[in-house]
Amino acid sequence: MDPPLPNPGGAALERLTVGIVGCGAVGRAFALGLARRGARVRLWSRRSESVRGVLDAVGRCAPGRAAGVEFEEFGGLDAVLLCVHDDKVGELARRLAAHPRPPGVTWHTCGYFGIEILEPLRAVGGACGKLHPLLALPSESHLEDPLGGGVFCIGGDGEALALARRIVSAFEGRELLLKPGEASDRLYHAAAALLSGGFVALLDASVKALARSLDLEGEQAETLAQEALQSLLESTRANLRTSSRGKALTGPVARGAEAVVAGHLAALADVDPQAEELYRALGPIMSRLGRYA
Ligand SMILES: NC(=O)c1ccc[n+]([C@@H]2O[C@H](COP(=O)([O-])OP(=O)(O)OC[C@H]3O[C@@H](n4cnc5c(N)ncnc54)[C@H](OP(=O)(O)O)[C@@H]3O)[C@@H](O)[C@H]2O)c1
Repeated sequence: MDPPLPNPGGAALERLTVGIVGCGAVGRAFALGLARRGARVRLWSRRSESVRGVLDAVGRCAPGRAAGVEFEEFGGLDAVLLCVHDDKVGELARRLAAHPRPPGVTWHTCGYFGIEILEPLRAVGGACGKLHPLLALPSESHLEDPLGGGVFCIGGDGEALALARRIVSAFEGRELLLKPGEASDRLYHAAAALLSGGFVALLDASVKALARSLDLEGEQAETLAQEALQSLLESTRANLRTSSRGKALTGPVARGAEAVVAGHLAALADVDPQAEELYRALGPIMSRLGRYA
């Protein structure tokens, strides 16, 4: 077994006990982050094997800080974090609210919802909030501190917001506060999904088009195409770190090379009409950005 990593946050969250409902990608990430910073973590999920997986991961870097419990034991905890699928958040809020001693603070981790989804807990006197990591957390992850240094969208009632801030600070993260109202939550989440999901889809379309131009077949062609495009992306990301978006924009749209753009559209139309549509849809935005270069 690998030796435990140094504890990044020391005991910043000592004396805090947080219940985590849902031991998937996000539940695991919070369990690791909180336990490594001194908090006690109580875990529950639908399947006991999900709980065991997270307990094993926490045990490797912060032994003794986490335990699996029954759902009923979430009553009276300092705080509970709901890390379940979006369509289960409301149901679990109602279940927690029906507990004889509902938690003092409850957050959910869903980007799309505001705190309104936790209304049943508010109705029984709980402080409610949102603690959404603006990160892509895959279900298979081996990172020991996936949330450290991340950006978090937070909001909520006084005590829930104050405790969320304490956690973000212990994670050495940055906070985003949204304007009040569910419309802000939806727009914020749409922006995040457009980039993280859209980026992978855009990469897929580009990989497939590039692979077809290589003198190689099938998987080999796609592997090489993805490696090549990732290297191109690294240079774009490096430019974005030091330049404005307009100045980081390169390519024929930015140069106003209309004949080249028309040639690209025709080439894509021949092999992948969806990729052509994507190129057409992004054209006006590239063109607008190019004007500010
Ligand atoms: N993944 C990301 O990148 C990411 C980033 C930010 C926010 N989020 C948000 O975080 C939340 C969780 O997402 P996730 O990616 O962690 O999903 P996930 O990996 O699919 O995990 C969800 C977990 O919820 C558990 N669960 C489902 N229904 C349940 C129920 N009725 N009672 C108890 N546990 C239940 C499942 O339990 P079992 O395994 O026990 O069946 C599963 O482990 C979602 O709201 C999502 O939008 C996700």
